Amino acid sequence: MGLVLGIESSCDETAAALVDEGRRIVAQRIASQDDAHRPYGGVVPEIAARAHSERLTPLIAATLDDAGVTLGDVDAIAATAGPGLIGGVMVGLVTAKALSLAADKPLIAINHLEGHALSPRLADRTLQFPYLLLLVSGGHCQILRVEGVGQYRRLATTIDDALGEAFDKTAKILGLGFPGGPAVERIARDGDAAKVPLPRPLLGSAEPHFSFAGLKSAVLRAREAQTHAAADIAASFQQAAIDCVIDRTRRALAESDAVTALVVAGGVAANKAVRAALEALAGEFGLPFVAPPLALCTDNAAMIAWAGQERLAAPHFASDPLDIAARPRWPL
Ligand code: KG4
Ligand code: ZN
Repeated sequence: MGLVLGIESSCDETAAALVDEGRRIVAQRIASQDDAHRPYGGVVPEIAARAHSERLTPLIAATLDDAGVTLGDVDAIAATAGPGLIGGVMVGLVTAKALSLAADKPLIAINHLEGHALSPRLADRTLQFPYLLLLVSGGHCQILRVEGVGQYRRLATTIDDALGEAFDKTAKILGLGFPGGPAVERIARDGDAAKVPLPRPLLGSAEPHFSFAGLKSAVLRAREAQTHAAADIAASFQQAAIDCVIDRTRRALAESDAVTALVVAGGVAANKAVRAALEALAGEFGLPFVAPPLALCTDNAAMIAWAGQERLAAPHFASDPLDIAARPRWPL
């Protein structure tokens, strides 16, 4: 059945998954560290690395158990090798190397962004290359033309904060706790998006990039003025952010060579208002809109296992060497 074991540990989710070549997620486990980081209002790298090192190996054992298989039944071991918090990435990659050596299985070092970029194909088997991908997470905000496995053309990136980071900082300013994105979305439903005037950085700009730092500062000023309800600030922030995302993505679609679909991935793709706006934009261009199910949008190991399957199936596949380095930064 062609199984790949995937391992993800680049931020605050410890995750393992088994995905077969028929795109079935045979088993997966995720241990969230939200409770450990909540008192600090954000992910603490040292705490994350220690938690990964305690939890990962038993989590992998449990995932294999769930599927009723052993390491000997697996065809390859894929692990996130960056970018991300380096301590956590090292725990996952070193674990994968040890398993690869012990079981004599190919090692596949996956770029976490490649995992997000290919995850829509795990959920939707009809999705063909090339597609335009909006990748929006806590650490990244990019528009890519995904042309094939290993072929990613970056059309835009952020010049300051990532979109998820802007959601997280807004949540912090509004005292909504951690993680911030879902909390902002929740209270925004009860707010008036037209109440608080906020800037839309780079809207209509001739250059392709994103910027959210000015929006975040304006949210802080609005909060400090104490004249607006938190729900109205959240709703106005979310609308301003969506206006920016749509403007930038519309520009990329207009400038790009033909694509088969507009696709969104990464943690912020879990946001229903963001999804709805992107779906309408895809409609403007007569394109299908593809968004993975919510559990595949936030960090998970199934997307890493699937990226491993795609790499295995690509021409000229070669196992990665056991001395391959974990990389805190690794542009696609
Ligand atoms: O992809 P992901 O799990 O981790 C990274 O690789 O960064 O993305 C996490 C980010 C966080 O910034 C989180 O606040 C944001 O995705 N996020 C959301 C929502 N769910 C998660 N942002 C807005 N609305 C949501 N519903
Ligand atoms: Zn991610």
